[in-house]
Amino acid sequence: MHHFTYRQNQLFCEELPVAAIAAQHGTPLYLYSRRTYRENFQRIDQAFAPWPHQICFALKANSNPQILRDFAELGCGADVVSVGELQLALQAGIPPQRIVFAGVGKRDDEIIAGIEAGIRGFNVESEAELAVINELAGRRKKIAPVSLRLNPDIDIHGHPYISTGRAADKFGIELNRAHALFAEIRDSRHVRMVGLHAHLGSQITDLWPFPKIGEVLANLAQAARAAGNHLDYIDVGGGLGAIYERAMKIAADTEPAPDLALPPAEIANTLLPALTRDLPKDCTVIFEPGRALVAGCGILITQVLYTKITRGKFFAVVDAGMTDLIRPSLYNAYHQIVPVIQRPGEWQSGDVVGPICESGDFLAKDRELPPMQRGDLLAVMTAGAYGFSLSSNYNARPRPAEVIVDGATMLLSRPRQKLETLWAT
Ligand code: LLP
Repeated sequence: MHHFTYRQNQLFCEELPVAAIAAQHGTPLYLYSRRTYRENFQRIDQAFAPWPHQICFALKANSNPQILRDFAELGCGADVVSVGELQLALQAGIPPQRIVFAGVGKRDDEIIAGIEAGIRGFNVESEAELAVINELAGRRKKIAPVSLRLNPDIDIHGHPYISTGRAADKFGIELNRAHALFAEIRDSRHVRMVGLHAHLGSQITDLWPFPKIGEVLANLAQAARAAGNHLDYIDVGGGLGAIYERAMKIAADTEPAPDLALPPAEIANTLLPALTRDLPKDCTVIFEPGRALVAGCGILITQVLYTKITRGKFFAVVDAGMTDLIRPSLYNAYHQIVPVIQRPGEWQSGDVVGPICESGDFLAKDRELPPMQRGDLLAVMTAGAYGFSLSSNYNARPRPAEVIVDGATMLLSRPRQKLETLWAT
């Protein structure tokens, strides 16, 4: 559930009116509901309770330090893909034993940082990377924990940019190389096999891929163990989708509304039996959601700068653009846009566009839009995942501020980037 509601035509985040927060902190502004992301973690964590498990938050979705600290406190681990994310996770208090390190292009210094930190495992994406980890660990007289990220060649039919588990995608190792590598790792001196990993892609809204990946990984686990490897974990990846369309029923939403595309319990109930049929209980199941934990908890608040009609077409020019939220421009992704304060009047079709000097800079295209005027505030819904984390300084625009609401209190978690920092080195 997300905790954005309307009370007497005013958008609230938990117990606070969004307009008042924007008045204090300015726009564009990312606003997060703490209750939403904490409840999402607890819901997913409880769903996996039937088996020893670890939820590892994919930091790439949102690495706000306060959100990370909250997840750390709740017992969440981390899926990291760079030394930067590794540092953030450790700094937030996530113990190294709850951290897995993925990514097709790990640099030597990043591998060394992971080894030194004592992470739970590297999710290795190629044979070449395996050799490098073995060598780097050897030079330090250490044994690095490795897990193989296998490419299961399953097509989830999502947007091609966010589908990662097809044979043609750059991620992971081909399934038919797995057996040879199980033997190679067993016989290597400076790597120890600790697990298996697969990740199908993002924004999964059907249940079927989860038992399917469970089945594939169960067979591989059997083979890995038969080859003499002990498995500490099986990492089933992330991918659980969020609700983007009709995230809010305007005016009618006085109660918290659902924000996950599938109930986590249904995922666990179909995935775990397939995956764990022959697995010993000391093998932890890792699930590494990013979007599902944070998408619904966040909105981007933006102010209408100008409205105009060009050749009969209505444009709302707002102060947030692709530098703040790139998903519409990059994936043609849909984000619902709602008024922060509803005003009476006619709805009309049009585009919501940003101030960036690119025609691809839009937040909504050909959308039925509520009545609005210069100065009005709009909320771009479901922006907590891959929003701020994908923001940029293009057009020399500072990154937006991030505020977290907890009940009736708010915390300025990350101030708006200062203009001076744009030329600081
Ligand atoms: N694990 C691995 C290895 C991943 O590559 C990803 C996401 C996740 C977990 C988390 O996936 P999630 O649960 O969030 O679906 N920027 C895109 C999404 C890119 C996802 C990349 N990998 C977007 O805004 O839709």
